[in-house]
Amino acid sequence: MQELKKIIIFSIPFLKRRMPLIFSGLIAGFLFGAFNGAYLFILKAAIDNFSSPPPQATASSVSPSKKYFYQQAMDELGRWLPKAKEPLDWKRICGGIFILPLIALVRGALRLLNSYFMTLAAAKIVADLQTAILSKLHSLSIDFFHKSTTGDLAIRILNDTKAFYDSVSVLFTDVAKDPITIAAILFSCALIDWRLTILAILLVPGCIIPAVSLAKKAREASMGIISSSVAQSNLLFESLSGIHVIKAFCLEKKNIETFRHQANDLAKHAAKMSIAGSMVSPIIDIVASLALSLLILCVIWQNISIANMAAIANGAILFFAPIKRLADANVKIQEGALSARRLTDLLDTQSTVTERPGAKPIKTFKKQIEFSNVSFSYGNELVIKNLSFVIPKGKKVGIAGRSGAGKTTLTSLLFRFYDPVSGAILIDGEDLRDLKIADLRNLFSLVSQDVVIFNRSIAENIAVGRSGATRQEIEQAAKLAGAAEFIEKLPQGYDTFIGERGVKLSGGQRQRLSIARAFIRNSPVIILDEATSSLDSHSESIVQQAIYELEKGKTVLIIAHRLSTLADCDEILVIDRGQIVQRGTFGELITQEGLFKSMAIHQGIVNNSVEGIPS
Ligand SMILES: Nc1ncnc2c1ncn2[C@@H]1O[C@H](COP(=O)(O)OP(=O)(O)O)[C@@H](O)[C@H]1O
Ligand SMILES: [Mg+2]
Repeated sequence: MQELKKIIIFSIPFLKRRMPLIFSGLIAGFLFGAFNGAYLFILKAAIDNFSSPPPQATASSVSPSKKYFYQQAMDELGRWLPKAKEPLDWKRICGGIFILPLIALVRGALRLLNSYFMTLAAAKIVADLQTAILSKLHSLSIDFFHKSTTGDLAIRILNDTKAFYDSVSVLFTDVAKDPITIAAILFSCALIDWRLTILAILLVPGCIIPAVSLAKKAREASMGIISSSVAQSNLLFESLSGIHVIKAFCLEKKNIETFRHQANDLAKHAAKMSIAGSMVSPIIDIVASLALSLLILCVIWQNISIANMAAIANGAILFFAPIKRLADANVKIQEGALSARRLTDLLDTQSTVTERPGAKPIKTFKKQIEFSNVSFSYGNELVIKNLSFVIPKGKKVGIAGRSGAGKTTLTSLLFRFYDPVSGAILIDGEDLRDLKIADLRNLFSLVSQDVVIFNRSIAENIAVGRSGATRQEIEQAAKLAGAAEFIEKLPQGYDTFIGERGVKLSGGQRQRLSIARAFIRNSPVIILDEATSSLDSHSESIVQQAIYELEKGKTVLIIAHRLSTLADCDEILVIDRGQIVQRGTFGELITQEGLFKSMAIHQGIVNNSVEGIPS
């Protein structure tokens, strides 16, 4: 019940949009249920007609007023069915041939309609749900993605929505219509013979108790299936994206072994799940057979009419089928509830970085970017401590420091991937938290060490910089970035498809593509984060040339491990453990004792004794 409630509460916003479909499906389902009762009456009337007058057992079970209506209806029905020792008129022939098939036809059609409307509604709800999840994922801030794994998210989008779909579709079809079916059958049976009906009801706990305990088992297995699937899909994503490393370290065997292990786990849980699921049916069959055996005993013992016995026996068969479906549905609902919880967790996750209502637009950059007493932590200790500095418009500010000092974190704060723990970052005097996020990010172009190449053509990859860029603009940007030359040599030029992760391009070529993106973006502020540090010296000099072009007329924040690239900065901040330890121009810093000089010595830019100039 708790699970059912969970699924229903979770589905409500999605259900609302699909009300017309659900409503049509429900009506078809209710009518289907009611028709099951009608079927029993016709069966009884048909068999009654073999023996006249009708047996007394029927009359005893019905109150006088009901009896009147019930008997009238049964008499009328009797006139439409063949009767022993009476002539076969056209009414009896037509009725005898067509009434039962007609009922079966209507019953079948209603069942089909119920299933069609409800399946369609469930499918649409799941599509809505998947879209909601994807847009939620896009709205979440970067910290969320550091905390979750790709495999887990993929399983949520694909498997959990599927399990949820299965539970919603049984909820709409079986759970919606079968209680009505059961009620209609019980009602009809009770009218025909209440004692036999009570006998059937007494056996119901025999179905419910094992079904509930099996559903519990299924739920446990389902948890196992989810955790194994997540582990497996994580491994899969890692293997595929890190295939170079795996091969280089000869990890293939180990990886495959781990995968096999997970696959076996998955198989074990799936088998448990399947056993729990498929034991439900046989158990209910056993109880139903017991019901039939007892029925036959009672019929002989109590001398009950053949017509009543046939109707009740049919009723028992019709009665246990929906019970079986409900028990199966319960298993699916247990699974679905588990998935619904995982989906709710995801949909309820709040982005730590949000745009506040009434955020101000910012289209141009006029004066300066200011870090004012900014501190930041990823969770434990502060990685940025009380940092203050200004990047005036049109200037080039460099940041130097050892790896792990907090340099990249500064750019993430500027893009508002995270918000500072204390202090503020201001653009032209406005706190970033008061600005429209998309506007803010449009002010910056980031060229970093990691270039993400999408699975598209070269032209489309450059156009990532600004949607709606024309072909001419794309080619111009490539030219400025020094990429045109190699692109034109490719088999289809700008239309060359660069495969997943751009494996066909060299590091320098990828970096020039990312600079072309920055050119096409044409934003006022350029942020360079170790843009050339992974390149060989030949590629570096080509890329560096393109960067000089890009920097022209822009405000630049440049982070460089290689200090020589900072030589022309207006100011350099030396950062260590999240704090500014030195600041000044290249010339000033190189002559001061301190971190900058020791790094410069280490890099061979200056030696211990001679005050050097950048090499
Ligand atoms: N997503 C993250 N979650 C937790 N800690 C992080 C994360 N990214 C970076 N850090 C930590 O923050 C510190 C600064 O990292 P970073 O800004 O990347 O340094 P840099 O760019 O100077 O090499 C490091 O100690 C690093 O381990
Ligand atoms: Mg870094």
